Amino acid sequence: MDIRKKFLDYFKKRDHLILPSSGLIPEKDPSVLLTTAGMQQFKPFFLDIKKPPRSRIATVQKCFRTSDIDSVGYTNRHCTFFEMLGNFSFGDYFKREAIEYALDFILNIMSIPIDKIFITVFKGDDDIPVDTESIKYWEESGIPENRIYKFGKEENFWGPAGETGPCGPCSEIHYDFGEEYGCGKKTCGPNCDCERFIEIWNLVFIEYDFDGSEYNVLPKKNIDTGMGLERMEAVMEGEPSIFKTVLFKKIVERVLEISKDTAGRKRGSNSISDSDFNKAVRIIADHSRAIYFLISDGVSPSNEGRGYVLRRIIRRAVRFGRQLGIKDYFLNKIGEVVVNEYSDIYPGISEKKDFSFKLVDDEEKRFTETLKEGSKVLIQKIKEIKKERGMYLDSRDAFKLYDTYGFPVELTREILKENDLKLDKGKFDLHLKKHQEKSKNKKSFDKKIDKNLSIYQKISKESEVEFIGYQNTSAETVIENMVKTDKNGNKKLVPHLSKGEKGEIILRKTPFYGEKGGQIGDKGIIKNGLALFKVEGCLIPVEGIYTHEGVSKRGKLKKGDKVSAVVDHRRRKNISRNHTATHLLHWALRSVFGKEVKQSGSFVDEDKFRFDYSIYSLPEKKDLEKVEQMINEKIQNNDIVRCFETTREFAEEIGAISLFDEKYGKFVRVVEIDNYSRELCGGIHVKRTGDIGIFKIIAETGVGANLRRIEGATGMYAYNYLREKEAVLSEISSKLEVDEGRLVEAVDGIKKEIQKKEEELMSLKIKVVIKEIADKFNYDTDSNELKIIDFDFSKFKAFSNMDIKSMGNAGDEVKNYFKGKNTFVIFGNIVNQKPVIVLQATDDLIKKGVDCSRIAGEAGKKIKGGGGGKTGYAQLGGSEPDSLGSAIKFIKNKALEILKKKK
Ligand code: SER
Repeated sequence: MDIRKKFLDYFKKRDHLILPSSGLIPEKDPSVLLTTAGMQQFKPFFLDIKKPPRSRIATVQKCFRTSDIDSVGYTNRHCTFFEMLGNFSFGDYFKREAIEYALDFILNIMSIPIDKIFITVFKGDDDIPVDTESIKYWEESGIPENRIYKFGKEENFWGPAGETGPCGPCSEIHYDFGEEYGCGKKTCGPNCDCERFIEIWNLVFIEYDFDGSEYNVLPKKNIDTGMGLERMEAVMEGEPSIFKTVLFKKIVERVLEISKDTAGRKRGSNSISDSDFNKAVRIIADHSRAIYFLISDGVSPSNEGRGYVLRRIIRRAVRFGRQLGIKDYFLNKIGEVVVNEYSDIYPGISEKKDFSFKLVDDEEKRFTETLKEGSKVLIQKIKEIKKERGMYLDSRDAFKLYDTYGFPVELTREILKENDLKLDKGKFDLHLKKHQEKSKNKKSFDKKIDKNLSIYQKISKESEVEFIGYQNTSAETVIENMVKTDKNGNKKLVPHLSKGEKGEIILRKTPFYGEKGGQIGDKGIIKNGLALFKVEGCLIPVEGIYTHEGVSKRGKLKKGDKVSAVVDHRRRKNISRNHTATHLLHWALRSVFGKEVKQSGSFVDEDKFRFDYSIYSLPEKKDLEKVEQMINEKIQNNDIVRCFETTREFAEEIGAISLFDEKYGKFVRVVEIDNYSRELCGGIHVKRTGDIGIFKIIAETGVGANLRRIEGATGMYAYNYLREKEAVLSEISSKLEVDEGRLVEAVDGIKKEIQKKEEELMSLKIKVVIKEIADKFNYDTDSNELKIIDFDFSKFKAFSNMDIKSMGNAGDEVKNYFKGKNTFVIFGNIVNQKPVIVLQATDDLIKKGVDCSRIAGEAGKKIKGGGGGKTGYAQLGGSEPDSLGSAIKFIKNKALEILKKKK
């Protein structure tokens, strides 16, 4: 039975518009990391900020719940990724119809007997009253009173998704698998911990907008429902475990197959209990499904935000795979099944297959290494703790594991849990916080999340700003609202802004581009007669609202004033040069490296641009040069750049690239360059490629796994950059008094000269060494007595660059000096913060049993390293600089010992 289809058909017949799932990366909603519910893409409709395309909508939504990661595996019904079936009403029907539809669907479409159904409703609290209305409708629909349970906010109040936003009391439908699955306790009922009852559908009555402290009543009453597909499938199959349903069957089979355990018993080489075995299978099955969905929706593994969520589940899956005894890399073997199972419904997952497989493969390999190293350390620590009968792992050790070995803290906790030990998570978080603060200064692409969001939400309900900046850089307009910002960044709506005050102006219509899509906002001025406000930036804190941030420079501007808004058009032009350049860059990279290269972020301002892209090979210099050249050729071609609005279907037909920007709007904006580059983009562009002037790559670096960044410039900035390089070149040439054309040759000559001088200097130093040594040891050069010459160069600053080779040469000279009879030389130094030692023995000592190679081998351990060589010459290197002195002593004693024995 295709529940998805039945669900959508049911609601389509009841006038609902069927819309596609949005992506797992929530669009324009900084309050959440990933899409956790079907309602998320409709937040503006609930808040009445935007008009929905229809007042009734139904979807099947891809969801991911980070909060459930740790539960996955431990129960048979939790998953991270899942599909949620939902019907929504925006100011249309409310509780009665929502309840009637849900029950009708369950009883008559799903054919579930009514006596299997239990209901929960909100019991009320200080903020919000008991939901008697719902109770009444349920009873009228045939649910007896004794099967309607009341719960508090924890269970029966939903939302907001994130810190603020739409929310309301909810009523849940639970299914009863039967007493045989129950715990037998008298209190057993919906929300019991046992397996008897399962929540299948949540009906949320969205009536409030939570602003962080208060529940504000929304102007319209709305419905948001969510039915977990996996759970409904379990009910239909009469199977309490979602992992045994058709949705997971093939995936689980593949897990069992690769863990060589079709019967579920013979468990690789590991011994593992049944419950741990099943837990591991569930974790791998769930996480693999989630992994490929996250990647296909644009998430890449990283150490931050959603990237870290992905990394975390990849790592968790790998670790449990190892626990099942799977030795090889295995995730993509399961990925094959995931992609096959879902590609009909979600084609994106197969389109991104090659990309996902490469990412996963890479991540799995890296993590396997991490796992090896980190596990060794942690197991050792656990042994020590157990020996001392402790209960906790020191949070510093956990942090070291995380920081130095990249060993995830969740994993540390899980391994500790298996060993009945704990981690003080609070202290660990403190270490982490300190660490993050230290590394905070890096600029990110993420926009600042404005803590004053509710102000804008309020404004946006009243009006929407008209953006006229595609055609204009100035406008006659009216001040609709003004916001004053105090020293602490707190904002409030004010009627006017006086000279010197900082704040924001919201205009009725504006030519200012608000920062979005990686393009910085415009700057400029807003004026009225003598009154002048300097606009230092323009943002869009909520959709439809443009805030012109800045300072009042002259006079006083008031709400309602007619004003002229003028964009700094020269700056705008530079920004648009850079923006179009990123499109050319995207095109050129894909032409040179293949279509799998994809933009993953960008930022353009008036000076420069940054462009992040995913790629699987290390780009070579010559390829990047080619990219640069291709772009400059296109600039010289002076191709036409066209921006137009069209339907999503047409944009797809002409192959416009969209950056995971799954908007449900019918119209999209396409930016087209000649016939070779088409992207969905809302940014501002030049009219012809020739306007860009010059394109120059300034830096190319790696910023993450398979993720690289190009920084570059265009126009006068690129020209100035090249001019500066030229100036440097000409300065060097004048300093060297060589023509620019002969500079390379000249530099080579200088390098050779320096090398020669260094050698000369070294031989002089060696002479000094011999003198020092001769004075210190004061041997009779002609005698046959045993001469052990040990010398620690690290004690003399002048010898800091005596490396192994120079010490070898010095050793030869010293032996010569002492006529080389019965001479044993031990020279040591610290080179690049590491200890190195050279030993030499004359032939007569070798005959007496001295073997430099063997001694070096033994002494290696003393400096935490190793050594070897020949009988007459050996060298060793280590990692503990402090142990150099004792190692020299050890070698000296060793030689003495050997020679003594021989006597
Ligand atoms: N938003 C509610 C939930 O996620 C109903 O869709 O449970």
